[in-house]
Amino acid sequence: MFRILRMKTIRTRTPLLLGVLLVVVYLCKNLSDHKTIHLQEDVKNNGSETRAPSKNSSYVYSWPTCEQNLTAANSSDFSSLSRMIQDFLYYRHCRHFPMLLDTPDKCGGADESADVFLLLVIKSSPVNYERREVLRKTWAKERLYNGVWIRRIFISGTTASGFQKERLNKLLKLEQRQYNDIIQWDFQESLFNLTLKQILFHEWMERNCPHTRFLLNGDDDVFANTDNIVEYLQGLKDNNGSKHLFTGHLITNARPIRSSTSKYFIPFQVDDSDSYPPYCGGGGLIMSVYTALVIFNMSQSIPIIPIDDVYIGMCLAKAGLAPASHMGVRTLGWYIPSKKLDKYDPCYFKEHLVVHRLLPADIYLMWHKIHAPDLKCSNSMEWLKENQTVIYRW
Ligand SMILES: *[C@@H]1O[C@H](CO)[C@@H](O)[C@H](O)[C@H]1NC(C)=O
Ligand SMILES: *[C@@H]1O[C@H](CO)[C@@H](O)[C@H](O)[C@H]1NC(C)=O
Ligand SMILES: *[C@@H]1O[C@H](CO)[C@@H](O)[C@H](O)[C@H]1NC(C)=O
Ligand SMILES: *[C@@H]1O[C@H](CO)[C@@H](O)[C@H](O)[C@H]1NC(C)=O
Ligand SMILES: *[C@@H]1O[C@H](CO)[C@@H](O)[C@H](O)[C@H]1NC(C)=O
Ligand SMILES: *[C@@H]1O[C@H](CO)[C@@H](O)[C@H](O)[C@H]1NC(C)=O
Ligand SMILES: *[C@@H]1O[C@H](CO)[C@@H](O)[C@H](O)[C@H]1NC(C)=O
Repeated sequence: MFRILRMKTIRTRTPLLLGVLLVVVYLCKNLSDHKTIHLQEDVKNNGSETRAPSKNSSYVYSWPTCEQNLTAANSSDFSSLSRMIQDFLYYRHCRHFPMLLDTPDKCGGADESADVFLLLVIKSSPVNYERREVLRKTWAKERLYNGVWIRRIFISGTTASGFQKERLNKLLKLEQRQYNDIIQWDFQESLFNLTLKQILFHEWMERNCPHTRFLLNGDDDVFANTDNIVEYLQGLKDNNGSKHLFTGHLITNARPIRSSTSKYFIPFQVDDSDSYPPYCGGGGLIMSVYTALVIFNMSQSIPIIPIDDVYIGMCLAKAGLAPASHMGVRTLGWYIPSKKLDKYDPCYFKEHLVVHRLLPADIYLMWHKIHAPDLKCSNSMEWLKENQTVIYRW
């Protein structure tokens, strides 16, 4: 029942939404054309960070170590904040870290990068070896689909310290040798460093894949139906990646969580805003490369806040670009209309874009099930095709 009601609202809203989206695209294009973008000089680092570092033959970039901002300790009630938040404030200004692993040729070189239609950009912590392995064999396979190229990169920091850190770095190095699909920077992975990872990626993209068309940006525990995503993007008649597109699980009217017991606690010292701009859940979302480049430009003058998807929402707001909602992205859990149905019904996955979140074995099984030649799905899922989405998170 719920589902049927929902279908109706979608059906009636789709043309309207599309219309609005088109208007927004048009307005935003004009806005950003006329906007002069200010690249903020990095005072602390004496401007040296804004210059490109030298590149050596192994494509490893080195940056000077970013120093703690000791003045951060002067913010009110600093000593009452958790270690993690204190750390965040001390290092908030740091935006460059040496690269440990790079794949600068992932899109065939900057000039040739238009040949890549969909770049899968998957946030993965070094420990998640099994997840990467199964994604490489399933939805994140590098392949030609419907006449266009899908490429994959995992973006990573470092975890642990001492021998454990070295072991995990060695693991990534071995994976890199075999698959050439990892970008790793030498910063500590943590919940509060996710925004940093995101900005570093956008900078990398501007350097290496500026003409690629679209990105799927998400976590390594989602199920993304990349066939559907390609078809959905190819269906956008007026956008080849050179115009605004940003869609996923849209979140509006969110505000910073001020309860200090929450995992997502944001004290005033970190962000004193009353509300967040609209944004899409970071578990899995789709954007054009145009929008990815605008986000990078905007990020230059927006102080980092710890929550990466909200931060991107701030970059979009600053550029006057709106995030959109896609019904096929289910990154906050998915629902199946009846308890009598199998939660892992392949027809559900066949019709969506992204679903969160699945164990590696379930991803493997599901990818094979949705491609089984004898899979029969009733037309009850037909509604989704009109607004094809493809990201699931359990
Ligand atoms: C800033 O740069 C100038 C010239 O490159 C140098 O002489 C000076 O020591 C630098 N200052 C700091 C704080 O690094
Ligand atoms: C490239 O830079 C890395 C890190 O600075 C260094 O370890 C490596 O030896 C350099 N390689 C060459 C060929 O200069
Ligand atoms: C912190 O504030 C005090 C008082 O305003 C000032 O004297 C001190 O230099 C500041 N410390 C830092 C590290 O900026
Ligand atoms: C250091 O922290 C202080 C207090 O939060 C802030 O005003 C200042 O801009 C920071 N400096 C840098 C270089 O980020
Ligand atoms: C982010 O990474 C930097 C570099 O490794 C580290 O100094 C900092 O503590 C990390 N921040 C958080 C909040 O974990
Ligand atoms: C993408 O579309 C724009 C017009 O919207 C066009 O100027 C551009 O050449 C197209 N790019 C490619 C690579 O087809
Ligand atoms: C980003 O900023 C650069 C430098 O100001 C500018 O050349 C470029 O057109 C901007 N890109 C987008 C997509 O706005």
